[in-house]
Amino acid sequence: MPRTMLVTGGAGFIGANFVHLVLRTYPQDRVVVFDKLTYAGNLENLAEVADDPRYTFVHADICDRAAVEQAVTEHGVDTIVNFAAESHVDRSITEPDAFIKTDVNGTHTLLEVAREHGLRYHQVSTDEVYGHVADGASAEGDPLEPRSPYAASKAAGDLLVHAYHVTYGMHTTITRGTNNVGPFQYPEKVVPLFATNALEGGRLPVYGDGLQERDYQWVGDHCEAIDLVIREGVSGEAYNVGTGTSITNMAMVEVLLDTLDKSRDLIQHVEDRPGHDRRYCVDVSKIEKLGWTSRHTPREAIARTVQWYVDNPGWWEPIKSGAFREYYEKNYGSRAVLESPGA
Ligand code: NAD
Ligand code: DAU
Repeated sequence: MPRTMLVTGGAGFIGANFVHLVLRTYPQDRVVVFDKLTYAGNLENLAEVADDPRYTFVHADICDRAAVEQAVTEHGVDTIVNFAAESHVDRSITEPDAFIKTDVNGTHTLLEVAREHGLRYHQVSTDEVYGHVADGASAEGDPLEPRSPYAASKAAGDLLVHAYHVTYGMHTTITRGTNNVGPFQYPEKVVPLFATNALEGGRLPVYGDGLQERDYQWVGDHCEAIDLVIREGVSGEAYNVGTGTSITNMAMVEVLLDTLDKSRDLIQHVEDRPGHDRRYCVDVSKIEKLGWTSRHTPREAIARTVQWYVDNPGWWEPIKSGAFREYYEKNYGSRAVLESPGA
């Protein structure tokens, strides 16, 4: 069945990769990207599809109900896929307000419009809603125990989606993805930050001992999973998406430096992130039963991502100047340095 999707946050990292996947895979589908273009939104991410007649861009905020209504009716939207969010944990610690507005109130606004117009609704969520997992892997039925303002705002979004399914019988699904890496990721996130710092000859600020564990997955794999769940997922259900294996941040840094053929001396251990979740790991058997499988290990995903940043300085160099410098100074300027191998 051809679809017309409202892809909110489609000018961001994962949303843009998803738009490319949909337009490449489904010749009959149409995509309306609905994006506020915050610091993380970038129309360069969509430059390749700018002239595609199946693609439209709407510059607006998901908290603006009238704008969402207008986009839905004007373009005959049948499906909302919500990627729009404030997505960086460190920013949620210093400035949580925008997270509550977009990730909670914005999700609610989209659900209201979807309810009124009888639309299919998919929520792109995160494994962070489960909180720190000391061992084993989080399953979809596990309690949500978010521990950062970002994770709490995403968990609130998930709960609203579930409530709208139960209360109003809406056709909803949720995916909970692990750490994505790949093209177009804003260089505040650890892999693009470290890759671009290393390429610029700078240090890599590892939080604490660097033995925290994350499941770094290739963004294309994650987008294929979201696409499958939109088309074949069971209404009312949530699906974890990841490789199913987590690696330490130190292992991630080693892959990154080896790919660039750079010295471990660039590593600098700095004061930890407050409330830092030590480990995430998800059980992916539910989405595997739906017919999806991850195509990259975390190490392959990291190496492939680093190569993309090597090949695309024209994308990230302009971002790392200007407003990004202010952010960098604010987040890293006053962090105590714990230890540097090269010191
Ligand atoms: P991103 O920060 O790169 O992009 C977010 C996009 O949303 C930007 O284009 C931004 O302009 C837009 N946006 C923000 N507020 C908006 C608003 N009020 N109205 C309209 N647009 C708005 O984020 P990302 O890394 O691509 O993440 C996309 C989604 O996936 C988020 O919901 C995030 O929680 C989730 N997620 C991310 C990861 C990850 O590793 N990056 C993993 C799992 C889940
Ligand atoms: O798990 C999914 C989540 O992954 C997504 O929901 C979030 O949107 C996304 O930002 C990401 O959250 P993390 O906090 O795990 O990602 P980040 O890239 O910020 O950090 C990854 C790990 O690296 C984490 O353990 C913190 C550490 N880190 C991060 C930065 C930015 C450092 O050691 N140094 C850094 O400078």
